[in-house]
Amino acid sequence: MKKILVTGGTGYIGSHTVVELQQQGFEVLIVDNLSNSNIEVLDNIEKISGVRPYFENFDLAAEAATADFFARHSDIDGIIHFAAYKAVGESMTKPLAYYRNNVQSLINIMEAMRVHNIQNLVFSSSCTVYGQPDELPVKETAPIKKAWSPYGNTKQMCEEIIEFTTAATNLKTIALRYFNPIGAHESALIGELPLGVPNNLIPFITQTAIGKRECLSVFGSDYSTPDGTAVRDYLHVVDLAKAHVVAVNRLINGKNKKNMEIFNLGTGNGFSVLEVIEAFERINNIKLNYKIVPRRAGDVEKVWADTSFANEELGWKAEIGLDEMMRTSWNWEKKLAGKA
Ligand code: UFG
Repeated sequence: MKKILVTGGTGYIGSHTVVELQQQGFEVLIVDNLSNSNIEVLDNIEKISGVRPYFENFDLAAEAATADFFARHSDIDGIIHFAAYKAVGESMTKPLAYYRNNVQSLINIMEAMRVHNIQNLVFSSSCTVYGQPDELPVKETAPIKKAWSPYGNTKQMCEEIIEFTTAATNLKTIALRYFNPIGAHESALIGELPLGVPNNLIPFITQTAIGKRECLSVFGSDYSTPDGTAVRDYLHVVDLAKAHVVAVNRLINGKNKKNMEIFNLGTGNGFSVLEVIEAFERINNIKLNYKIVPRRAGDVEKVWADTSFANEELGWKAEIGLDEMMRTSWNWEKKLAGKA
C-alpha cells in the first residue's frame, strides 16, 4: 500500500482528496494545524471511506516539528501539499503571515524530502498566478503576471522554489493550478467550512439562501462579458480531488515527462456571476436575494482554463457540471445548518 502524506488534509480540498486516495487504496497520513479546519473532519472522512487517516497536528512552517515528523515517517511515497493560507483579501493586510506560512512550509517539506529521499510532490497552485491573462482560454504557457496580492505572490514564489529545487535535486513535482473549486461531497459529510463572513461567491450564496446573510452583493455588472458580470471557471471539488490522485500516481509510477510539470485544473468553461446565481436558483428551487454593487478591488474580469494539457497528458477531465456543483453546495449548507 502506497503511503501519501496530505498536508492540510482536514481542509476543504484536502479532505476530499484524502477520501479519493483512500478509496483508491492509498494509505493516508494527514498533517494539519487546524488553523482553518476542524478535527471532526476526521470522523466524517472515516464515515465516507471506512478508514480513519493517521493524523498529526502541527505547523509545517515550524522547521523542527517538520523535521521531527519526517524522521519518524521517512517511508512516505508521495506528498500532496495543500496546507496554506488562501484568503486573497486577508493576505493584503497580513502579508508576512502569508509569506511565512505558505513559503516556509514548502521549504521545510522540500528539505525533508531531500534529506529522506522522498521524491514525489504534488503542489497546490492557483490560476491567480496568471492575473488577467491576455488570451483566453489560458494555457499553462501563458506568462506569469505581477501578483496582485501576497497570496498570489506566494503561489508564484512557491512554483519558482519548486522549479529551482527540482532542477538541483532528484525531486519530482507536479504543480496544479486550480481555477475556482466549489461544491461538496455527495454525502454532505465534508465541504467548505468558511470562517466568519465568506469572501468567496458560493459560500456567500448558500449562506444567503439559508438566511445567515441578508443579501448577496454581485461585484460589478460593467465588465466586458456577455451579461456584464465577472466570469470564472468553476470546478467541482471532487473532480479536483481526483486530479490529485492521478497526479501523485503519475509521479509514483515515473510517468512524468519532466521533473516539474504544471497543469491547469478547471472545466474549460467560464460562467458569469449571474449565470451561477441562475443555476443555483433553478436547481435548488430557491429565490436568492441579491443586488448589483460596484466592482471588488483586485478582481480580474474573466478567466477560464485551457484544460487540454491536463486532459491529454494526465488523462483527467472534469466531469461534474455547474448544476451539480450548486446542488452539492446547497446540500452541504443545509447539513451545516442542521436542516438536512
Ligand atoms: N463575487 C461576488 N459576490 C461575492 C463574492 C464573489 O459577486 O460576495 C464574485 C467575484 O467578484 C468574482 C466571482 O464572484 O467575480 C468569484 O469570486 P470568488 O471570491 O469566489 O473567487 P475569485 O475568483 O475571486 O478567487 C478565487 C480563489 C482564490 C484564487 C482566485 C484566482 O478564491 O484563492 O480564485 O483567480 F486566487
